[in-house]
Amino acid sequence: LSVVALISGSGSNLQALIDAQEQGAPFRIRAVISNEPEAFGLERARRHGMATAVLNHRDYPDRASFDAALAAAIDGYDPGLVVLAGFMRILTPAFVEHYRGRLFNIHPSLLPKYQGLHTHKRALEAGDTEHGASVHFVTAELDGGPVVLQARVPVRPGDDPGILAARVLKQEHVIYPTVVRWFAEGRLRLDADGRPNLDGEV
Ligand code: GRF
Repeated sequence: LSVVALISGSGSNLQALIDAQEQGAPFRIRAVISNEPEAFGLERARRHGMATAVLNHRDYPDRASFDAALAAAIDGYDPGLVVLAGFMRILTPAFVEHYRGRLFNIHPSLLPKYQGLHTHKRALEAGDTEHGASVHFVTAELDGGPVVLQARVPVRPGDDPGILAARVLKQEHVIYPTVVRWFAEGRLRLDADGRPNLDGEV
């Protein structure tokens, strides 16, 4: 399975996918595209000989034209799957529709709780005793697509957003490669009724 990864920053989730690929998972990341020119994830890709591209959203007059250029860049690699890995852009419905059923995102919360930003701070302020991360198919609703897999972590006394984020991030690096592997194995798809369908056991 050919994969294109979209990033904006550190790319630790990208790194987890690279590691899984190198350990023999049945997918190949063909390219890494970033909207941020300085994203460290680009360096991670280069170290592994992967193609990289930067499409700086500041160079485009509006969201639709950026997304159109992004889709053209992605389609140049003809991927079977596109993964958002710390990609901090809201995508247009046209873009999402174009990749329906083959576009994942990872979000640092137990969706549907805490869509959007600052999820760890919000969980702490709410006094939650549990938090986590979710891998979901991307639909037009921001952080609202059908959830495929979640990881739960305890919230501990003395946690601050940074400590909690680090605990969640470790689990992100487990569940994202798991879901991409399921998809690469042909076990996972998005049904016509918008529900994820996984064949076999988790
Ligand atoms: C992570 O919290 C991830 O959940 C969110 O972006 C943050 C950074 O991800 N999508 P990464 O280290 O750039 O993969």
